[in-house]
Amino acid sequence: MRIADRFDPNADIVLYEGDCLDLIAQIPENSIRLIVTSPPYNIGKPYETRLNLNEYISQQERIIKQCTRVLSDEGSICWQVGNYVSNSEIIPLDILLYPIFSSLGYHLRNRIVWYFGHGLHASKRFSGRYEVVLWFTKTNKYIFNLDPIRIPQKYPNKRHFKGPNKGKLSGNPLGKNPSDIWSIPNVKSNHVEKTIHPCQFPVELIERLVLSMTEERDWVLDPFMGVGSALIAAIIHGRKAIGAEIMPEYVAIAKDRIDLAEKGNLRIRPMERPVYDPENSGKSIPPKTITLENKEIQFSFFDNTLNHSSSGEKL
Ligand SMILES: C[S@@+](CC[C@H](N)C(=O)[O-])C[C@H]1O[C@@H](n2cnc3c(N)ncnc32)[C@H](O)[C@@H]1O
Repeated sequence: MRIADRFDPNADIVLYEGDCLDLIAQIPENSIRLIVTSPPYNIGKPYETRLNLNEYISQQERIIKQCTRVLSDEGSICWQVGNYVSNSEIIPLDILLYPIFSSLGYHLRNRIVWYFGHGLHASKRFSGRYEVVLWFTKTNKYIFNLDPIRIPQKYPNKRHFKGPNKGKLSGNPLGKNPSDIWSIPNVKSNHVEKTIHPCQFPVELIERLVLSMTEERDWVLDPFMGVGSALIAAIIHGRKAIGAEIMPEYVAIAKDRIDLAEKGNLRIRPMERPVYDPENSGKSIPPKTITLENKEIQFSFFDNTLNHSSSGEKL
């Protein structure tokens, strides 16, 4: 894999240490198929200077405008955010950011609710257990491949009981649409992907977006890459990846993780692993060690569903 430290069209991965606006300025227009990121939430994490809310929104607007220049016409932009908190009041950032995307002509395709089971325990309100991914496309002609991200049907053997399809499977044997509510564990202390970063993406969250919204060898950009989780999700599926990060220690970790992936030693939580169920704790799927040669796509995990023809008959 060719890793560059500034934009290079011949590289496989670009890891830029510095401000995302400086990186985006190096990228040709209309060249990125997917931009996916979780920006700082302006809540005083170690890597951010807390701004007043209007300044924060203006700063985000400048970055989103530059992203628009580099996003391809068939491309998608996924902005993953939670809440800004002020005087114990929560302000959902997606509500504040939506008008920016809308004024730039974007089309909102989904507001994905990312639900997770762990976090701070609140005492004066309900504990917060979800964040959102706003998925916008630049135009009405966009890439969306559902098959690689289907999930198992609840009743895989359910059949039509009357009519011309009587006896045939009623659901798609490749699995069902994962819907817009995703239950995926967040990266807390005992998660196999945990690094020193306080709020990294679980790789599986981004794999779903990469597999459905891009093709092999497309560029995926994360302007706030942290420890490079989105880049890892991209390269393990044969996409090219670009990220910017201002904190040198996070860039170093991103490099180490990519290096481990190249050597076949990076462990991630597999997409097909169900959320922990105490009643079935012995049946959990263990962490997966990834290699970059073996670009698995999701439905290859479902051996039982692959043994069907497209008409639903078992082969
Ligand atoms: C919410 S975290 C993203 C973490 C990332 N999703 C991951 O999996 O590691 C936001 C990151 O943006 C970085 N950051 C803040 N301002 C930045 C800027 N102007 N340009 C590039 N990175 C920036 C922070 O240091 C932080 O690591």
